[in-house]
Amino acid sequence: MCGIVGYTGFKPAAPILLQGLARLEYRGYDSAGLALLRSGQPILTIKKAGKIHCLVSAVQEARISPVFTSGLGHTRWATHGLPVDKNAHPHSDCRNQLAVVHNGIIENYRALKRRLRSQGHVFKSDTDSEVLAHLLEQGLRRKGWVGAVRWALAQVQGTYSVVMGYGGEPEKLIGAKSGGGALVVGLGRGENFLASDIPALLSHTRRFFYLQDGELAVVSPSSTRVLRLSNGRSVTKRPLEVDWSVQQAEKEGYAHFMLKEILEQPRALKRTLAGRLDPKTGEVKLEGPFWSSAFLRRFRNITLLGMGTSAYAGMIGRDLLEKYLRVPAQLENASEFRYRKPPIGKDSLVIVLSQSGETVDTLVALREAKAQGATIIAICNAMGSSATREADGVLLTHAGPEIGVASTKAFTAQLGALWFLTLYLARLRRTIPPGLLLQKGRALGHVPRLMQKVLRQRHHVARLARKYAVFHNFLFLGRGIQYPIALEAALKLKEISYIHAEGYPAGEMKHGPIALIDRRMPVVAMALRSSTAHEKMLNNLMEVRARSGRLIALVEKGDREARRLAEDTLELPPVEEDLGPFVSILPLQLFAYEVARRKGCEIDQPRHLAKSVTVE
Ligand code: AGP
Repeated sequence: MCGIVGYTGFKPAAPILLQGLARLEYRGYDSAGLALLRSGQPILTIKKAGKIHCLVSAVQEARISPVFTSGLGHTRWATHGLPVDKNAHPHSDCRNQLAVVHNGIIENYRALKRRLRSQGHVFKSDTDSEVLAHLLEQGLRRKGWVGAVRWALAQVQGTYSVVMGYGGEPEKLIGAKSGGGALVVGLGRGENFLASDIPALLSHTRRFFYLQDGELAVVSPSSTRVLRLSNGRSVTKRPLEVDWSVQQAEKEGYAHFMLKEILEQPRALKRTLAGRLDPKTGEVKLEGPFWSSAFLRRFRNITLLGMGTSAYAGMIGRDLLEKYLRVPAQLENASEFRYRKPPIGKDSLVIVLSQSGETVDTLVALREAKAQGATIIAICNAMGSSATREADGVLLTHAGPEIGVASTKAFTAQLGALWFLTLYLARLRRTIPPGLLLQKGRALGHVPRLMQKVLRQRHHVARLARKYAVFHNFLFLGRGIQYPIALEAALKLKEISYIHAEGYPAGEMKHGPIALIDRRMPVVAMALRSSTAHEKMLNNLMEVRARSGRLIALVEKGDREARRLAEDTLELPPVEEDLGPFVSILPLQLFAYEVARRKGCEIDQPRHLAKSVTVE
């Protein structure tokens, strides 16, 4: 998944593009480039393998004139072609009159490349994206700039979010989208912008609109026009005004975005609950016609869909919804959903969880469920993203921009949304007594304060990380609602420290994993006293210690029995079982962060990963 920025206006374009790309580096960072356009001048393109700072140095060395006030830039997560200079975007045509930056995959690029080559086009890269530049070159021989874009894209099969510049009309950038990840148009005064994500442009504007699949935007300094790719008809767009600050999209002095985002989780949860949960009375309210629809009273089953961390949040949501609604609920890994053909239909509620709202596996599953007649709720952190547009009901998690590739505040915000959705539906369907409902709501309203307390353990966690960072394998064990936390904690550790880690239901130990236990295998076990499985977890702790395993236990403050069994402990405040995940995940996020930091890993941009997986 790549990062794209475009600018056309009255200011020098290069600094604006570089700043925007730096804010998008979490989306892909194996190479980057920019192209600058000005009337009567050949397009000036600079592109470099490596991180953005390599491009910044190259641009500085090039001593670019400030007269270039239009341009486009790209930071790449390679899908086709090694991350080397020639494969970095932007790509140009044979006459260097065009510049193209692309996010997505062109499935039929080989056939197009063969045809274009046979017609004399010379390719400079190994990428699929370069075919777009040569198709545009052909289009310009037949049509004007906009017509050439529509003609070229009509030949493409696959996915694209693309921004294009043409030396013949340098002020007029064109953006287009069909499944290749988000593309926003930023609205300024005497200047306009395009980008893959809002944080890239927050220094310049807070007014945006998202391009939808099948749309094309013609962006010049004084105007933006949106057309349908299929028929060229105009589309009216209502700009969004985001309330994010630049600071929220910046590190603000933290060593890493991930640390900042771990520590801001209490605020992110509060923002997500605000206006929906009254923390004093415990009352939950959701506004809008969807939330008072008869369907919410009568659906007969629930399927939750997501990938990675979002799927683990969905597992917790499944447990809550089944427990409080007494309705069958299942969590499906979104990428597997399409192969299952599960029996869902018009009586089915499907809850889609996605921080970015652009994860292609999740979107494909959403469309599959919709095609089978299900009603879709999207729990998402990105206003205007594909998932929010295609769902029937939307619950935005107001976690703010999550820049670190490893998801943290979005996860606990998703848990908050799942919690108040459960309470809201339980009240609609009268499945739990009003008094208990309000008690649960008040307990939920108290969670941000509990989280704040747990996050004060950061230095103790750092000490544990120093001790355990030398190991090469970890097991994380949980039971019940803590099992998804074991999975999520293992994912955090492996994705940022590259240490192998597995999450298991603790009951599985005797069925195989216990064979792994020895002094070289740290085991992290969630043994909270409020858990109905506490006694059985203590047995698991004993089994691990009896086999010389290195045991870190998450225990409730004062649980001497669990403390005695563990080599090291992480203490948590007392909290009711169903709210346990909000607090147990925090020290484990910090543990993963501190271990990765000890190892000198690229925490915000782990190798091979990108923030949102928009290609299959
Ligand atoms: C989590 O730390 C990972 N970054 C990854 O598993 C992520 O949760 C997954 O790709 C889903 O992304 P989404 O929530 O944006 O759909």
